[in-house]
Amino acid sequence: MFLRYVLCHNGKMAVTLQPKTNTEKIMNKTRTLLLAILLIGICCGISAKTLVVYYSYTNNVRTIVNELATQKDVDIVEIQPAEEGQDYAANNYALGTQLLNAIKAAPNDASSYPEIKQVSVDLTQYDDIIIATPLWWSQMAAPMQTFLFNNGAAMAGKNIWMIVSSASSSISGVVADAERLIPDGNFQGNQIWIKSSQVSQAASMLNSWLVETGQVSAINNQKMVMLSDPHVMAPGLLVSEGTAWTTYLSGQRKLVDYSQRLFDDMIVRIKRNLRPGLVLISGDLTKDGEQVSHQYVTSKLDELRAVGIQTLVIPGNHDRGSNSDAVYYDGESTTAATVATNEWFATQYANYGYGVSSEREGTTLTYACEPITGCCQGKRKEGDCHDAPSADATLRGC
Ligand SMILES: Cc1cc2nc3c(=O)[nH]c(=O)nc-3n(C[C@H](O)[C@H](O)[C@H](O)COP(=O)(O)O)c2cc1C
Repeated sequence: MFLRYVLCHNGKMAVTLQPKTNTEKIMNKTRTLLLAILLIGICCGISAKTLVVYYSYTNNVRTIVNELATQKDVDIVEIQPAEEGQDYAANNYALGTQLLNAIKAAPNDASSYPEIKQVSVDLTQYDDIIIATPLWWSQMAAPMQTFLFNNGAAMAGKNIWMIVSSASSSISGVVADAERLIPDGNFQGNQIWIKSSQVSQAASMLNSWLVETGQVSAINNQKMVMLSDPHVMAPGLLVSEGTAWTTYLSGQRKLVDYSQRLFDDMIVRIKRNLRPGLVLISGDLTKDGEQVSHQYVTSKLDELRAVGIQTLVIPGNHDRGSNSDAVYYDGESTTAATVATNEWFATQYANYGYGVSSEREGTTLTYACEPITGCCQGKRKEGDCHDAPSADATLRGC
């Protein structure tokens, strides 16, 4: 496959794909056929959704599940104890221990299990269920045990996956509890254990687990996504609503008041649905070059990077230098926001094109690099192409 693209800021982008060999032509036809089968499958409701049932006391499992939902299309149900504000960790975990001891003493008696708030879920809608729970004293946290005691029979024949979090104890006791409470579940074996100290790495751990277990497709290094002009405005720039903000908005064509949410949504779609090897963003990343907006953008690009999706950016005319619209909006007044300079931009996007492996042209923001080893080589040119569109980049061998 030969791939050629022209990339510069402000939308001048053309891509051609030319299959070169008969094998590639046959592969293209096969892909079309598979796509048709997939679409028929979706229309006939063959692809059932996955349910995630989770309990979290100190938020680790909640954080993990929130991350999971950006990588896989799932419905989520949270289990909550009927009695709010309980301190399960007080007095050397006395209450937690007491709840578990009661279950251990009479595991077949419903009154042994702590009450939970009513859960409204139709389990018949799901073939795949992920149970996400903390470990307590090497067992499954008591509130999750209550849910499974009440619903385990209805999960017969379903594919059961488990995500378990503990400080350090091995999770085998939690898996054994699940097997006792869902006796006819179709357990999928490969459970994931995320220690409390590893929650910050949950994105990459979940991605590896989901790919290894066939729950999501691998990142496709032959796929590229191109974005332009997201004009992201960091939420902090709107200090308070008022005439300063509404006056600015009334003179705007750009959807800056939605830009952050649109960008967030795009990041999720790229992670969860598109899963390309490479994302190119051809400038005007931010509303008006505010450093806080750039920091927001890179925090989202970090999410892509955590699951192995590489992004390359170039700045647009709104991304650095002085700009009178780079301000904080506070009621009736505005105050200037710090904007990016060339060097600040290059440092901020070191992981997104301006790193040591790129060849930068002097102090400009034009660079050449090989984002995917052995697959793509390209050159991206900074600046605005309104007046002089030109062919700046070629990718070969993708
Ligand atoms: C009552 C109780 C008992 C716990 N027992 C253990 C234990 O035996 N071993 C362990 O490694 N962690 C233990 N932990 C720590 C949790 O498993 C761990 O912090 C987990 O990440 C918490 O998830 P959460 O924040 O979603 O509630 C216990 C926590 C509580 C509240």
